[in-house]
Amino acid sequence: MSDRSAMLATATDSNEAWGKLWRAGVLHSCSTAIDGNYDGRIAAFWQACFDGVAAGHRIVDIGTGNGALALLAKQHAEARGIGFDIHGVDAADIDPPRWASDAASFTGIVFHPRTRMDALPFDDGSVALVISQYAFEYSRPRDATLREVFRAIGPTGSAALLLHSADSLISLTARQQLAACELLFDETAILDLANDWISGLLAGRDATSIQQAFHQASARVVAGAAELPEAAILRKAFHYLHATLERAQTAPAQALHYLSDAREDLEAERVRLRHLADAILPLPELDDLHARSIAAGYAASTLAPLDQQAGSRMGWTLVVSP
Ligand SMILES: C[S@@+](CC[C@H](N)C(=O)[O-])C[C@H]1O[C@@H](n2cnc3c(N)ncnc32)[C@H](O)[C@@H]1O
Repeated sequence: MSDRSAMLATATDSNEAWGKLWRAGVLHSCSTAIDGNYDGRIAAFWQACFDGVAAGHRIVDIGTGNGALALLAKQHAEARGIGFDIHGVDAADIDPPRWASDAASFTGIVFHPRTRMDALPFDDGSVALVISQYAFEYSRPRDATLREVFRAIGPTGSAALLLHSADSLISLTARQQLAACELLFDETAILDLANDWISGLLAGRDATSIQQAFHQASARVVAGAAELPEAAILRKAFHYLHATLERAQTAPAQALHYLSDAREDLEAERVRLRHLADAILPLPELDDLHARSIAAGYAASTLAPLDQQAGSRMGWTLVVSP
């Protein structure tokens, strides 16, 4: 496979993996940590950004997912008794009104599925504010996306990005989650063992040795869970395995189907976690994005850490403004 085909294959896997998450109906990508929409200092940051946008002006959320930020922008405008022209763009096959719980809340927001943020469907300088939470940094090459953002906002618009950073809690959690994936898929192959055990039962074969191997793998995964307290994917895998074995007692064929769906879900999560790990920005790269913004003429651009509470770093904000 050439480098370019490998890159395209990876992009397709990622788009599918993200699409799968959004179809499951979660509002945003931190749904395991934050109930409802983004709140606290994250929401306060966004409210301050929206304060600077005048009635009728265009806001574009790049990498919008299920539209959490676009929705915050809409609610902000409503609270001010005005309206914005709000758009959400994503490379995945998104459709927030269809998949998220309250379709009516998205009325008036225009979503652009299968649309890359380095080729935005907006005229030069037609966007007052580009926003991105944990999305800009996923794009490749980032330089091209930054130039595209500058083109869309023109000399008078702004952009506000909340970016994954190497010093954030999310980065720590991602490392543990990926170690947990290695434990599940590579070191113990516990899903394969469950599959082989149940298939053996179904075929009437002696399953004693595979059953023993499964129990050994379970003990290893349980020990791993103690070493990786932030790895929520292990709790999810335990839930799936428990439910599979319960079903296997009465309906082994159905249990195998259930296990296959569970594996698909866990594998898609691993793809997203790898994508996330690649997106995390070391501090010098954040400084570089800031410096590029200033060099491009956005002299008032600022870079700052964002802590949801003391000690809970959620990333860094880059506000690009003239
Ligand atoms: C971590 S999610 C964040 C979604 C949303 N902003 C949120 O806060 O819930 C990253 C999103 O960026 C999208 N994405 C990644 N690369 C992209 C690109 N080059 N162009 C457009 N969207 C992209 C993914 O499909 C995914 O939906």
